[in-house]
Amino acid sequence: MEKNRPSWSSRVTFILAAVGSAVGLGNIWRFPYIMGQNGGAVFLAVYLLLILTICFIPLFAELVVGKFTKKECIGAYEAINPKFKFLGAMNPITGVLISSFYFIVGGWILNYIYLSFTSSKITDYGAYFGSFTQSALIPCILTLVFLFLCIFFTARGVKKGIEFANNVLMPLFAVILVVLIAFSLSLPNAKLGLEYMFKPDFSKLNAHMFLAALGQALFTLSIGMGALLTYGSYIKEDKNITKSTYTIIFSDTLFALLAGVMLFPAIFSFGLEPSSGAGLVFVTLPYIFSQIPFGGIVSGAFFILLLAAAITSGISIIEVPVATMTERFKISRINACTILFFIISAISIPATLSFGPFSEFKIIGKNIFDFLDFITSNFLMPLNAFFLCVIAGWFLKIKGGTFIRNRVFAALFDFGLKFVVPITLLLVLYIGLK
Ligand code: PHE
Repeated sequence: MEKNRPSWSSRVTFILAAVGSAVGLGNIWRFPYIMGQNGGAVFLAVYLLLILTICFIPLFAELVVGKFTKKECIGAYEAINPKFKFLGAMNPITGVLISSFYFIVGGWILNYIYLSFTSSKITDYGAYFGSFTQSALIPCILTLVFLFLCIFFTARGVKKGIEFANNVLMPLFAVILVVLIAFSLSLPNAKLGLEYMFKPDFSKLNAHMFLAALGQALFTLSIGMGALLTYGSYIKEDKNITKSTYTIIFSDTLFALLAGVMLFPAIFSFGLEPSSGAGLVFVTLPYIFSQIPFGGIVSGAFFILLLAAAITSGISIIEVPVATMTERFKISRINACTILFFIISAISIPATLSFGPFSEFKIIGKNIFDFLDFITSNFLMPLNAFFLCVIAGWFLKIKGGTFIRNRVFAALFDFGLKFVVPITLLLVLYIGLK
């Protein structure tokens, strides 16, 4: 084992960092818009079903593989069997691809923080979002600023960089969400939004929805790109990974549901389109803020806290390739961060321009941004999660009984890890991509 590997200062710190990784743009930005594109309540039902029955298994397995091997992704897979190192390498690669679109949205948040504090005369937020994202220069600069912020914290290392953001800012964020929910529910027609979210029409069920829900569930829980494996590898003493797993899942789902209950009533009340895509949050929220007393301050506070949540997730995404570069290739942390800054920028900039100058450039019918999002969430993450379960279940031979006291649950876990989850992941991938 490496002597200089980082480690968490306490069990609580680890849980907070893992929750900080999970709760981010996936909950507030991606969840509502993917749900809006996939028919609302039916999607939510499928999503919750997948989280409760399937997702906790790969989440748990990632933590265990990390904790037992105490290595970054390639080394961890290699320690189980040298043949698997290439599968391990898919994790940091997926991480780089995710950061290349995730950080663009981080840049959008920076813009909305600025807007909150300037007295802008915007009346049509939909049109504003369109023209802003098309405008090329500012979004590119802001993407790089956000990338720099995440890299900066990552370069400072595991303890100093990550702990403050998680300990203080996340609880504050939950409070502000609750205040906004109260306002949103008081709007005329708020009931329509709640119905859209909670009254499923099962006739709308389809295979693509399962893939979209699986992609969203993995994305929001940070499963399938080694983030939790890497964080798990920094655990020293924690024996109770089961409890950590539940905490991560519970908090992440709570934040996603809060985001939905905050947005959908407002979307219906303002007559916006739930299926309008990636701009949904950035159009709806400014409308809400423009209606409430002290809207500018509330808006500023909200976007700053969202920025903090996005940074803690962004750090965990970057930490995966950084850990691989420092441990495996013996590059110093600061150099690894610098190299990554350039690699991620090289992919992010064309992706940022895919809303403007490069909008005609399409891969499988999608612009670069949507393509990166789709290929990572709906293909690479499920695939990585599949390999992880197979490796953990059949080669590392994790036995549920080691961690789960109840014998029935332990046996169910073993069966799930070896058979049910890998088969389901492959099946959803196959049917959804067909
Ligand atoms: N789960 C994070 C979010 O919801 C994104 C993320 C994906 C983080 C993959 C780490 C790994 O915003």
